[in-house]
Amino acid sequence: MAASKEAWGSRVGLILAMAGNAVGLGNFLRFPVQAVQNGGGAFIIPYLVSFLLMGIPLLWVEWSMGRYGGKFGDHSTPFIMDNMTKKRFWKYFGVFGVFTNMGVMAYYTYIESWTLTYTIKSIKQDFVGLDTTQVGAIFDQYVDLGSGINLPSWGLIAFLVTLSINIYILSRGLSGGIEKVAKIAMPLLILFGVFLAIRAITLGATGIEGCADCNSHLGLNFLWQPEFSSLKDPKVWLAAAGQIFFTLSVGMGTIQCYASYVKERDDIALNAMSAGWMNGFVEIVLGASVVIPIAVGYMGLDWIKENANFMMAFKTMPYLFDQWGPVMATLSGVAWFGLLFFAGITSSLAMGTPWMGFVSDEFNWSRNKSAITLGVVILALALPTILFFEYGVFDEYDYWTGTVSLVVFALAEVIIFGWVFGMDKGWRELNYGADMKVPNIYRFIIKYVTPVFIFVIFLSSMLKPEGGDWAAAFANLGSGGWPLASDSIIGQIFHLKHVDGELRSVVKWFESGSPTPMFYVDMSRFLLLFVFAGLCVMVKIASNKRKNKIPIEHHT
Ligand code: ALA
Repeated sequence: MAASKEAWGSRVGLILAMAGNAVGLGNFLRFPVQAVQNGGGAFIIPYLVSFLLMGIPLLWVEWSMGRYGGKFGDHSTPFIMDNMTKKRFWKYFGVFGVFTNMGVMAYYTYIESWTLTYTIKSIKQDFVGLDTTQVGAIFDQYVDLGSGINLPSWGLIAFLVTLSINIYILSRGLSGGIEKVAKIAMPLLILFGVFLAIRAITLGATGIEGCADCNSHLGLNFLWQPEFSSLKDPKVWLAAAGQIFFTLSVGMGTIQCYASYVKERDDIALNAMSAGWMNGFVEIVLGASVVIPIAVGYMGLDWIKENANFMMAFKTMPYLFDQWGPVMATLSGVAWFGLLFFAGITSSLAMGTPWMGFVSDEFNWSRNKSAITLGVVILALALPTILFFEYGVFDEYDYWTGTVSLVVFALAEVIIFGWVFGMDKGWRELNYGADMKVPNIYRFIIKYVTPVFIFVIFLSSMLKPEGGDWAAAFANLGSGGWPLASDSIIGQIFHLKHVDGELRSVVKWFESGSPTPMFYVDMSRFLLLFVFAGLCVMVKIASNKRKNKIPIEHHT
């Protein structure tokens, strides 16, 4: 390992960078849509329970692991985990903490590039006077690169610019790059968010003809009114837990990396809470107060329940802003897409750091070399999502790297922390230098509740029954077997489909001589697997180098 020259400049900078890591597109796009698709207020209770029983414990576990690793000069999860355990195989679980970030960064930076383009489009007033269909069509044209034939395209150029900005900032290091960006981006993001939230809250009834429920307050009410019936619905629990993973960036490996640069005696317990609660505030208060209420204001509650989706931010919001006249539309467009850009970049920068930490620790690569190689890998991973967007490659990355990997890795790390490293050592590590008293109940929660919680989430995603109807699935267990859903993890792996009442693996790569969408999806899976395997080889080489180094150090 190389002695790292990286360090955080200040506590405020560290907290803003950590909060920036968490606050992202997930807070403003994913959260509101997940909430709507899972019954609005019905989503909130499982969400809060998941936050308390899984989110907070994982934050503490990851900060502790990170600072502990940093003491030994380890800044990425393969060797942080290796150091916490005696069994050598754990370091390969640690590969997830580098790999996941790369997979997510690839498609995440692409979305970030949309926000950059849309900020510029808002300034140019490109959406003025257009109807919803026309605004939607602009987005469809933007992402449809004609299967990669019509090059060059603005979508691709904007992506290259966005990736270059990320790589440049990463090459400036923690205090000289990431921290500086976080100090500017986070306050601006909050300012833009508050501006839009006030606009949404004061909008009220818009008086659209024939739309009695076109009232932003109905949107707020729908998201905020808790409904206890949801507690019995596993589908809502799965969605809520998935959102907690994504929004807090837990199970990714970024928090460990950031925390590994915290000084040995510095607090982690309160810092973790500050960043976690700041993320919660931005998500529940600001995230819930913008896109859905404004959309309900003009399109009505029923429309939102039917149509809420991630792409609404681009396909619908510019049209809604346009209802406020050209000046407000421009201001709101810049605030909305600027906010998304800042939220996105502070997260994607964090996703780049585990690779930077890994190659500089193990291979002594300079910051520039680490950043440039990251850029090359991210470009290679992102190109399929850009060129074959309409075939579902983008969603495939989100599913495997942004959803499944997080759960697998979180389960591994919480087991290591509570059971292999040991809760006594783990608890001491968390409390060392702490500026707050960590409630004792969390000792129990981290050891027992969180692993069981994550395991249940994992198993449920693996074995999800058709239509998410668990009650019917258990009732029919004796007679009809288990009705595995095609969107369960197993169903996804084997491309299971219900054909003539039977569940079959349907794999078709070519039709009439042309590749099918499944072909592109499967090729993207192979690419992700290839990157994972490549990282495992690098970890193996690094591990051998470490072994060879020890005797030499002993003799000097
Ligand atoms: N935590 C980041 C987000 O919410 C990844 O977007």
